[in-house]
Amino acid sequence: MAGRLAGKVALITGGASGIGEATAKLFAQEGAKVVIADVQTAKGKAVVTAIKAAGGEAAFIRANVAREGDAKRMVAFTVKRYGRLDILFNNAGVENPKPEVETSVAEWDRIMDVNVKGVFLGTKYAIPEMKKNGGGSIINTSSIFGLVGSPGFAAYHASKGAVRLLTKSTALAHAAENIRCNAICPGVIETPMFAEVLSAAPDPDRARAEWLATEPIGRFGRPDDIAYGALYLASDESSYVTGTELVIDGGYTAR
Ligand SMILES: NC(=O)c1ccc[n+]([C@@H]2O[C@H](COP(=O)([O-])OP(=O)(O)OC[C@H]3O[C@@H](n4cnc5c(N)ncnc54)[C@H](O)[C@@H]3O)[C@@H](O)[C@H]2O)c1
Repeated sequence: MAGRLAGKVALITGGASGIGEATAKLFAQEGAKVVIADVQTAKGKAVVTAIKAAGGEAAFIRANVAREGDAKRMVAFTVKRYGRLDILFNNAGVENPKPEVETSVAEWDRIMDVNVKGVFLGTKYAIPEMKKNGGGSIINTSSIFGLVGSPGFAAYHASKGAVRLLTKSTALAHAAENIRCNAICPGVIETPMFAEVLSAAPDPDRARAEWLATEPIGRFGRPDDIAYGALYLASDESSYVTGTELVIDGGYTAR
């Protein structure tokens, strides 16, 4: 298949929903063979079916990115199925809107396990495979909440800030091996995660209006807005880009 990712193999965590789903579809459309790793089996398999129906190539593996054995297995599965690994999108993530005093230790640990340890583990096991191909591209999903604070989301802010610096560390450790690592900082994107944030608010309609008022561009982001950024970072078009953040936020952090 021709395209901006022709001949490449991509592993996308959290590919069953939202940003990961849109990216999996776009990467496949651009010629990549795509492995979706997620804890949601039915949704992940449905994305694979949709990609195949559109003429692309994809496979699903159930994996919890916070578990070392699963991270190891998703990378091994990708290489066994498609022969190599060129692109890792460490995108799986979970949120929690609570401020510090309301956050339990268990909630803190869950956010850190998925959002930070998950990125570390995916990276740890992908890099040896990328080295075999003479390079690769790792994309980590941070957030505008990894760039600026808010009066809530304590663990989430901490986790996404950690992802930004882990990204720079990975970029420097592996630049000489032609393995690039960049972060994407999405703004407020309409996905099931955002729906969950709204439904946890006392008045979801009011919360939605308040979030919308934070958007300089006057609308929420769409999963495809992020997928196109990931496509650039995954492709050879960004071969001189490493250790940085691509902020896609409708102007949220321009203030
Ligand atoms: N939606 C937003 O406004 C927004 C903004 C900034 C950053 N982000 C980040 O973007 C990423 C994708 O979020 P989304 O909005 O598409 O949410 P989403 O909930 O639609 O998708 C997240 C996916 O990750 C999967 N997942 C969760 N925990 C997992 C685990 N332990 N192992 C494997 N898979 C797991 C979920 O099953 C789901 O399919 C996340 O890292 C999120 O923090 C989202």
